[in-house]
Amino acid sequence: MRRRTLLRGGTALIVAPALLRHARAADLPRFALGIASGQPHASGMVLWTRLTGAGLPERVIVTWEIAHDAAFSRIAARGDEIAELAWSHSVHVEPAGLAPDRWYWYRFSALGQQSAVGRTRTAPAAEAAAAPFNFAIASCQRWDVGHYAAWRHIADEQLDAVLFLGDYIYEYGAHAKAIRPLEGGPVRTLAQYRARYATHKSDPALQAAHAAAPWLMVWDDHEVGNDYAGLQSQNLDPDFPAQRAAAYQAYWEHMPFPRAARPNGDGMRITGRLDWGRLARIHLVDDRQYRDAQACPQPGRGGSNTVALKDCPALLDSGRTLLGADQERWLAGGWDVTRPWNLLAQQTLMARFSRTDPARGGGTYWTDGWDGYPAARRRLLDVVAQRKLTGVVVLGGDVHANYVADLKLDFGEPASAAIATEFCGTSITSLGAPQARLDAARVDNPHIRYARSDQRGYMRFALDAKQLQAQLRVVDNALDPASGLSTAARFIVDAGRPGAVAA
Ligand SMILES: [Fe+2]
Repeated sequence: MRRRTLLRGGTALIVAPALLRHARAADLPRFALGIASGQPHASGMVLWTRLTGAGLPERVIVTWEIAHDAAFSRIAARGDEIAELAWSHSVHVEPAGLAPDRWYWYRFSALGQQSAVGRTRTAPAAEAAAAPFNFAIASCQRWDVGHYAAWRHIADEQLDAVLFLGDYIYEYGAHAKAIRPLEGGPVRTLAQYRARYATHKSDPALQAAHAAAPWLMVWDDHEVGNDYAGLQSQNLDPDFPAQRAAAYQAYWEHMPFPRAARPNGDGMRITGRLDWGRLARIHLVDDRQYRDAQACPQPGRGGSNTVALKDCPALLDSGRTLLGADQERWLAGGWDVTRPWNLLAQQTLMARFSRTDPARGGGTYWTDGWDGYPAARRRLLDVVAQRKLTGVVVLGGDVHANYVADLKLDFGEPASAAIATEFCGTSITSLGAPQARLDAARVDNPHIRYARSDQRGYMRFALDAKQLQAQLRVVDNALDPASGLSTAARFIVDAGRPGAVAA
């Protein structure tokens, strides 16, 4: 019963003097941004909500319950948390001592109101033989260029977990061809980041996806600012460290991360690892906070560029890192040689994606992704090869296209063996590059087995000890909130043999 307290008869939900000053507070919706759960492990997870509406006191007591059934007739744990104004009245509950490999239901109450009910689960115990693991990867949900039909379908997929791989918000002002209203211009301050999260989280399909399964999350650049690297923004703004701190705070406030992850002014740790029974080890890494700045930016700027090798020898500097030295070591030392699968949840396309440009003397590379850090990519894949890991699957997003690729030590050797398998999933809504550009590049990148930038959706996976089955799920029309869904392609990976095979 450690860390659990009892409901005080359903009362005392608010600091009393404040209640008197806000007599109409009960009229306002207090759970308008929904609920969420995340970071499942064998004995618990994080339960999240954030109180909304005007007139909230500085501190509000929020009661939470987690039950074995949707009717809450068998309560597993319950307690109170304080939602504080300083942290946007967010609540990050960490029930402990739950049973492994079980489904649970949870809800919150405060100020006389009750939240929606969410469904979540614990992971199998680390040494338990796990049933098939069903999960999806999703990324890049720019608000004003599409509707969230994909989230409605994810909510219906009966998933054990959703892996969100970055770009939960975009910091931009409204798109010139915005298809739904977006309040505010470019986002820079804490208040603006909070408002942007609130906009996204108002969407019922996204709320349903959060309520359907626990999420494992990493961020990419747009949770802060396009193409940032560490403490450097793409426009070299000297005030960027303060902007990043505000963005990280708002991210923590709106996501099911534990209290221990709360940013301390310096940064926020999102790097993590989870063992899903004896089946898989999941590694979650951060390629934004600790990276070296992109090589060869445009004059007077930071951020990405597209360069040819002869114009940018710095691209090959062996000392440059995308994950940072500490995180590289953490990952290299944490690959699991006992489980059949290692899933690497990270931000962007890892496979080489060069584009031949005769005018620039050969292949060109986009410097923000792994192509901008080829020595770091090689170091990572060298460890995979040295350990003789056969079930490494790299999962990514960021590039708004579905890619399936073989990862190789030397992408210049088309006949060489695949070291690992990559699935980089398309965006929920964000717009992709022209398909013709991808088609043209396929010739130079035969390790890329599939490349489609013109479809929105997510990837759904079923994993067991022998095989990974992947379905590339795409919506019929991302401009229609009620859009249907289809499977654009299916692939299979065998645990003993890297490389995806069309199914
Ligand atoms: Fe994106």
